Amino acid sequence: MVDCSLISLIRGAIPPDPPYLSLSCTMSTDYFLHKGINFSSVMYSEERLDYVENEFQVRDDDVFNITFPKSGTNWMMEILSLICRNGDPTWCQEVPIWERIPWLDISGRWQLIDKEETPRFHSSHLPIQLFPKSFFTSKAKVIYTARDPKDVLVSLYHFAHETSLIKTPNSFEEFVEDFLQGTVPFGSWFEHVRGWMSMKDKSNFLFITYEELKQDHRGTVMKICKFLGKELKNEDIDSVVEHSSFNIMKENKMSNQSLAPDYIVNKNSFMRKGISGDWRTIFTKAQEEYFNRIYQEKMKNLDVKCLWDES
Ligand code: A3P
Repeated sequence: MVDCSLISLIRGAIPPDPPYLSLSCTMSTDYFLHKGINFSSVMYSEERLDYVENEFQVRDDDVFNITFPKSGTNWMMEILSLICRNGDPTWCQEVPIWERIPWLDISGRWQLIDKEETPRFHSSHLPIQLFPKSFFTSKAKVIYTARDPKDVLVSLYHFAHETSLIKTPNSFEEFVEDFLQGTVPFGSWFEHVRGWMSMKDKSNFLFITYEELKQDHRGTVMKICKFLGKELKNEDIDSVVEHSSFNIMKENKMSNQSLAPDYIVNKNSFMRKGISGDWRTIFTKAQEEYFNRIYQEKMKNLDVKCLWDES
């Protein structure tokens, strides 16, 4: 049973988590290659990635919110925050989202993570091969959220114009190529999903899609509660659904990233559209066919059917 009641008290007892404090305030976008994958030097470091993979000690009651960027990470952070508090939105209204379900892989806060009492919730974009080794012998839980890769690409493309974490693309065409080649931060979407799907039959792994959340928000929240062993009353579930809706998150400065520095994301651009199928507004027919061909090749033999496969 997950009981998060102590988390904010414990976090409150430590000086405010400085997620960006140790970062240089440069606006220049630079990547470094770590084990074949591009990472933004603005928020990541070799040292941190090595620490996370080789030294970080996962606990049996840890819960990880894992995604490829732009797949609904912050949406899941909000849902988990609300589930932790039995639907009470106060935590979400008073504490920035990155302090509630903090990033595992970002530089500058591992001392804090190790001090936290259990259960700990973490967010991460790491591909499975860079994940903490200690996770694989633990009972810790992973919620992996995936999204239609064409929508991920489009969301990432727009985000790249609003952040210094991602190189600004010269054109959409060029960005399609970067995405398919896996030269964007966190590498190939295909390898990310395939890698994590190797866990799909494990009882400590829950696979969710952004589309499923859009289609059946309440049902998916209930599925997450069941996975976490958390029993919520009907009205609490209603509250989780209401307070993690796009419109409420967009208006909540603790959740819409408007408190993050501009070099992370320009004001008010993070909660962009929050819809499925936005790729149709920008992909040409030729790009769609090209993308689908590569998708078929790279995802063949993967025994998973996603909602976007039907569209
Ligand atoms: P769009 O750019 O397509 O609007 P991440 O948190 O992984 O970076 O993902 C960001 C994407 O999730 C953005 O997509 C954002 O609008 C969307 N998103 C965030 N909160 C959402 C919510 N409550 N409902 C639907 N989409 C949401």
